[in-house]
Amino acid sequence: MKNIYLIGFMGAGKSTVAKELVKCLDATLVEMDQRIEQEQGMAITEIFERYGESRFRDLETALVHALAGEEQRVVSCGGGSVLREENTAAMKESGYIVLLSATPETIYERVKNSTNRPILNGHMSVEYIRELMEKRRARYESVADVTIQTDGKTVREICQEILKITQQGGAQA
Ligand code: S3P
Repeated sequence: MKNIYLIGFMGAGKSTVAKELVKCLDATLVEMDQRIEQEQGMAITEIFERYGESRFRDLETALVHALAGEEQRVVSCGGGSVLREENTAAMKESGYIVLLSATPETIYERVKNSTNRPILNGHMSVEYIRELMEKRRARYESVADVTIQTDGKTVREICQEILKITQQGGAQA
């Protein structure tokens, strides 16, 4: 099995869906943010504070390249990990890129109490989320092999959609 990379905005449901997906597949779960935190021995917010965003993005790139050399991984990607071309090229070569999308309102409800997302710290509002989402939308959509709208769907329904698509050979939705 090729890897499955779940991409999308913060709070799109990547982690929750990835956890459920591995139960249906003979695959290993990789939570990018968690892996980076473990490897660096510090929280994402601390990496941003101490070394800056570009250092965090370099760590993401190194991790994506490492994962591209593996198989049977369901990867819950950091929301900004697709912003670099070299990252998405490595993802494409080694698996399916599945975009999970949701409205800014849904995203806000899911992330509003989060304090471990430095990109949103001090900007926690539907408006800010909408703006950043719009800035990233074209990038997310252009790199995705398939897009799954998650609003109003159960985790199980989302997983069934992903399984159907990836087992059909990654056809466009
Ligand atoms: C980020 C998303 C976060 C994390 C970091 C930056 C982003 O991951 O990688 O805070 O730029 O969108 P989640 O999408 O898992 O929240």
